[in-house]
Amino acid sequence: MKKVSIIGAGNVGSTVALYLAEHKIADVYLIDVVQGLPEGKALDAEEGAPIRRYDVELRGTTDFSCLADSEIVVITAGIARQPGMSRDDLLSTNAKVIKSVSEKTAEYAPNSIIIMVTNPLDVMTYLALKTTGFAIKKVIGMAGVLDSIRFRYFVAQKLGVSVIDTTAMVLGGHGDSMVPLPRYSTVAGIPITELMTRDDIDKIIERTRKGGAEIVSYLKTGSAYYAPAASVAKMVECIIRDKRRILPCSTYLRGEYGIDGIFVGVPVLLGKNGVEKIIELELIPEELEALHTSAAAVKTVIEQLESAGVI
Ligand code: NAI
Ligand code: 2OP
Repeated sequence: MKKVSIIGAGNVGSTVALYLAEHKIADVYLIDVVQGLPEGKALDAEEGAPIRRYDVELRGTTDFSCLADSEIVVITAGIARQPGMSRDDLLSTNAKVIKSVSEKTAEYAPNSIIIMVTNPLDVMTYLALKTTGFAIKKVIGMAGVLDSIRFRYFVAQKLGVSVIDTTAMVLGGHGDSMVPLPRYSTVAGIPITELMTRDDIDKIIERTRKGGAEIVSYLKTGSAYYAPAASVAKMVECIIRDKRRILPCSTYLRGEYGIDGIFVGVPVLLGKNGVEKIIELELIPEELEALHTSAAAVKTVIEQLESAGVI
């Protein structure tokens, strides 16, 4: 069985561990700095195995050397949003955490693929790339999968159809300027632009952009984790099982879509080597402009980290 490590045994990390175990995708190591937390969560999850019927290994530890031999390292370490906070408000605290755990990943699991989850997502993914020096295809951010499944759920609710028949594509940074693409979103292959009014589509776009904040406003003490964990588990499965699926992920662009030197969400082909290929969609000027606006927002936050001397 292949090994996946998850740094950060909080809400997202422990739920990812459970999803990976339930689907028997890999042995899972949960790693955290809080003594007892990863051990307790892993043991609790493993005790459910006789009924849930998984026989993968689930271990929890504060020992980062247990990262060794991981095929994938999922990073969910850091703090989550509270009501009134934007994802960018997490910047300075999470940058320190991500720098430290990236160094440990490079030390103990130099051949792994990183899936970043911590916010601000696109900037933390950039920081992990710069800190580890890993190949570009091996450092990937999770956001577009989550934003797309939220979009799909809202479309299915509005039209009264099964979510299973929906597809969606959300590009850009994981922030309020993300770019849902109605032309590339379908129900049973039919573009939603043929099934819904512009007004209804605009409302769904807005709700998707605010999807994270909507959950924070209910939870009050943290942010979403079930749908985020499902999204991470899907990416892990694609890589571990070399599924070669096309999913929107935050990836480092070198001129694609006219964007250079930052991470931003675009469709990629995910396989055993990580990002096997970046897919360049034909965007109309209005979509491309929205993507560039979103990329500019990511760049501004990277510049803040640079001027603070973190990168
Ligand atoms: P949480 O607070 O439940 O868990 C975070 C965990 O990180 C805690 O257990 C904490 O002890 C641990 N941690 C802190 N510093 C650490 C270090 N140096 N090494 C190892 N572990 C460390 O938070 P939650 O809800 O799991 O969210 C985690 C992060 O993921 C947040 O930044 C959140 O904003 C982000 N997120 C991103 C999403 C996305 O779409 N990209 C979706 C959902 C959450
Ligand atoms: C979300 O979109 C918190 O970024 C996270 O739910």
